[in-house]
Amino acid sequence: MFSRPVVLALALLAANAVSAQTCARNYTVVAGDICDSISAAQNVSTYQLADVNPGIDPRCDDLTPGETLCLGYVGSDCTTTHVVSADETCEGVAATYSMNTTLLLQGNPQVNADCQNLYTGEVLCVAPDGTASASSAAASPTASGTGALSTGDDGDDDDDIPFCDEL
Ligand SMILES: *[C@@H]1O[C@H](CO)[C@@H](O)[C@H](O)[C@H]1NC(C)=O
Ligand SMILES: *[C@@H]1O[C@H](CO)[C@@H](O)[C@H](O)[C@H]1NC(C)=O
Ligand SMILES: *[C@@H]1O[C@H](CO)[C@@H](O)[C@H](O)[C@H]1NC(C)=O
Repeated sequence: MFSRPVVLALALLAANAVSAQTCARNYTVVAGDICDSISAAQNVSTYQLADVNPGIDPRCDDLTPGETLCLGYVGSDCTTTHVVSADETCEGVAATYSMNTTLLLQGNPQVNADCQNLYTGEVLCVAPDGTASASSAAASPTASGTGALSTGDDGDDDDDIPFCDEL
């Protein structure tokens, strides 16, 4: 039999296994980084960076050089990204990647349905299924809470998601 402390430790591990997810990619912050520059350089969407790192404040002004960020979770890591340039529209971006705006908005829940809040420098996931590959999307734990980048069709309750925009 395990002693009681070991049992407690195992229980904690099990709880973490349910709630915590495995980072597919890490990034170490360097001086001068802002969320959107990290997103653009590392191919991680604005939404995913904020979603995976809830500790970053909504204005993204609390990054510390040397701190490690998780860039995406295994199974829901979108690595196909597009940096929005001036005057781009959701329709235009979607067309560029042979997808429709419905899919584009599903992969980027911070963008309004009318796409009026798109901004220059924002980084969008442009993988049709919201992740790098369909097979990993199928295994994605989309119902496991706020930590997962949902690739499903719920599309609601995004109001409390932090963003790294409006810098
Ligand atoms: C990311 O960093 C964590 C914590 O330092 C580490 O445990 C993990 O192995 C790293 N993952 C990758 C993919 O580098
Ligand atoms: C980001 O994606 C571009 C285009 O696919 C690629 O050339 C570049 O190496 C990627 N960068 C990283 C850090 O993955
Ligand atoms: C968008 O594309 C997906 C995948 O091709 C398709 O299932 C869906 O019906 C399309 N939605 C609209 C509104 O065209």
